[in-house]
Amino acid sequence: MVVDRMVRRALTAALAALILFLGQSVSAREAAPTDTFATLVDAQGRIRFPPDFPADFVYIGAWAVAGGNGVADIHAVYARPSDVRHFRQSGAFPDGAVLIKEVTTTIGAPHTTGRAYWPDKPVTWFMMVKDVRTRFPGSPLWGDGWGWAQFDPADKTRQIAKNYKADCLGCHVPARANDLVYTYAYPALGPRAQANVPAKAAPAVQEGSGHRETRQVINVSAMPAATSPVADEVATAKGKLAFESSCIGCHSVSSGVQGTGPSLFGVAGRKAGSLPGYEFSPAMKSSDLSWTAENLDNHLKNTRNFIPDNRMGRFFPGVPDAQVRADIIKYLSTLH
Ligand code: HEC
Ligand code: HEC
Repeated sequence: MVVDRMVRRALTAALAALILFLGQSVSAREAAPTDTFATLVDAQGRIRFPPDFPADFVYIGAWAVAGGNGVADIHAVYARPSDVRHFRQSGAFPDGAVLIKEVTTTIGAPHTTGRAYWPDKPVTWFMMVKDVRTRFPGSPLWGDGWGWAQFDPADKTRQIAKNYKADCLGCHVPARANDLVYTYAYPALGPRAQANVPAKAAPAVQEGSGHRETRQVINVSAMPAATSPVADEVATAKGKLAFESSCIGCHSVSSGVQGTGPSLFGVAGRKAGSLPGYEFSPAMKSSDLSWTAENLDNHLKNTRNFIPDNRMGRFFPGVPDAQVRADIIKYLSTLH
C-alpha cells in the first residue's frame, strides 16, 4: 500500500513537472519574436548578426538581379518561422521580427535546365528589425518602424551601416505601402504579402526548352522603367553601393582624406588634378579637364585612355555598365 502510494505520488509529481515543462516550452516559443531585443539588439540599439544564422531562420524568397548578360547577384531573404506565421495571419510583421537578406555573386553554366546560375561568393548581409515602440529615437540606425543594419562580408560580426536614412531608406521608399519591405517577392509570407505588386511586373521568360518548357531569359527591357519621383534617390543609393564596392578602396569621400587616389569629396565640377594635398600624376594635372558628368563618364568608361598615362588607369580598368556609371556619377554629385 505504502509503495503504491509512493509510486502514485512520484507519478503525480512527474506529471506536474511534465505539464510545467510543456507549458514553459510553449510560452518560450510564443515569446520568441520579442526575444530579439534581449539577444540581437543591445541597450544602445546596436544590432548584431544572429551568431548561428541560418539556424532558426527559414528561407522566404529570393531575387535574381540581372546584370549585363545574365544573373549578377542573388538576394536570398530569410525570416524566423514565428514572424512568418504572424505575417500570414495578420499581414504585418510583429515587434522584434527579423529580416535578413543575403547577397551573393553568382556563377552560371549550361545545365540540363538551361543556363543555370548558383550563388558564388557572399557580398554582404542586410538586416531589418521591426520596432513598433520607437525604442531608440536618438539612433541614426533606427526609424520608420525598423532597425537597419548591414554586415561586413569579411566579418559578419562587424556592422557597417551608419545612418539608415542615407544608407537604406531611399531604396526602400518604393515599398512604403508594404511597411518598407518588398513582401510580394516572398511566397512564404502567403497571400497577404501580395499587395502593391509593381504595375509593370513582367515575366522574365522569352523562349522554349528547359525545366518549365520555357528557357528563363532575363528580359531587362521588360523591367519597370525608373520614372517614379523617387528614381533620383534610388539612383543615388545604387551609385553609393556601386561606389562602395568599386572605388572606396582607393578613394575617400571625406574632405581632405587622401588614399591611393584623391578624396572625391566635392569632385563634381572640380578641375582634374587640382586638389591640394594629393600628388597627382603629370598626366592628370595637365589634362585641362573639369569633372563634368560627361568627363566623369568618359574617364570611368575608359580609365586608361580617356586621360592617357593617368595613374588610376594602371590600377583599375573602369566600369563597363553605363547605368552603373550614371548611378555612381549621380552619387558623386551629392558629395559636397
Ligand atoms: C540600392 C538600393 C538599396 C539600398 C541602398 C538598400 N536596399 Fe534593402 N533592398 C532593396 C531592394 C530593391 C530590395 C528587394 C529587391 C532586391 O533585393 O533586389 C531590398 C531588400 C532588402 C531586405 C529584404 C526584405 C525587404 O525589404 O524586401 C532587407 C532586409 C534589406 N533590403 C535591408 C536593407 C538595409 C538594412 C539597408 C541599409 C543598410 C538597405 N537594405 C539598403 C534596395 C536597397
Ligand atoms: C585601385 C585604385 C583606384 C580605384 C579602384 C579607383 N580609383 Fe579613381 N583614382 C585613383 C588614382 C591613383 C587617381 C589619381 C590619378 C592620377 O593622378 O593620375 C584617381 C583619380 C580619380 C579621379 C580624378 C580626381 C581629381 O581630383 O582629379 C576621379 C574622378 C576618380 N578617380 C574616380 C573614381 C571612381 C568613381 C572610381 C570607382 C568607380 C575609382 N576612381 C576607382 C585610383 C583609383
